[in-house]
Amino acid sequence: MLKPPIPRMGGKSRLRKTIIEMIPEQHTCYVELFLGAGWVYFGKEPSKVEVINDIDKELINLFNMIKYHAPEVERMLEYQISSRDMFDEYKNYTIEHLTEINRAVRFLYLITQSFGGRGNNYGYGTTSKPKPQIFYKNVLGELKERLRNTYVENLSFEKVIDKYDREHTFFFVDPPYFETCGYSDKFGEEHHLLLRDKLINLKGKFLLTINDHEKVREWYKDFNTKEAEVLYSVSNNMEARKKYKELIITNY
Ligand SMILES: C[S@@+](CC[C@H](N)C(=O)[O-])C[C@H]1O[C@@H](n2cnc3c(N)ncnc32)[C@H](O)[C@@H]1O
Repeated sequence: MLKPPIPRMGGKSRLRKTIIEMIPEQHTCYVELFLGAGWVYFGKEPSKVEVINDIDKELINLFNMIKYHAPEVERMLEYQISSRDMFDEYKNYTIEHLTEINRAVRFLYLITQSFGGRGNNYGYGTTSKPKPQIFYKNVLGELKERLRNTYVENLSFEKVIDKYDREHTFFFVDPPYFETCGYSDKFGEEHHLLLRDKLINLKGKFLLTINDHEKVREWYKDFNTKEAEVLYSVSNNMEARKKYKELIITNY
């Protein structure tokens, strides 16, 4: 099983085995609508045709650069050290002035050398070393191979559904949680309702993972629902780790 190159808030590392076991065998096209770090995509066996999508431009640029320029990204990583000054410098760059490869290195640096993978504050510690992704050597090649036969999209989810929905398509759907901190201001109730309407009318199959919430249960009451408990953390501090209930909802 491959590991993604970056951490991501809400990453599906802990649920991925359960999710992968539930992917229906009968599909030709696998679509991941909200890629994030892509734990499920990198963990599962490749499908015949694959599509990965996320609205985050910098995240998708990183995957595109791994796909097309992995050796050059690794060559640039040879010059990195984990330093607060470097972190602040990367943070303050005007990205329009950078090449796509420089942007990919910057993004990888900020995401891996910050607390909780949020890219805001320099992440340091007394019991753990700096995160190793900025020292990658001969690692990205494997990920590049995995990306070879994959269409990479950078659109809002509804457009991807419109483009790829067929009877032989399977969608793995892992949107930002409903009404929790993080992305909630950008992905509010109206987005969740649009997603629900799209999923209700789908020709293909879907598996949705989402936090357990009264409204979510009501929206998807006509579908198959399974509960799963996950330990979720955004910090090394044990007290900040909490158990959450997630729902796994399918239309098959
Ligand atoms: C919960 S994370 C996905 C985690 C992922 N499954 C993993 O294993 O790391 C949600 C992702 O949705 C993306 N996103 C937010 N709004 C979106 C939209 N309208 N369309 C597509 N992606 C969106 C965010 O950029 C974020 O990466």
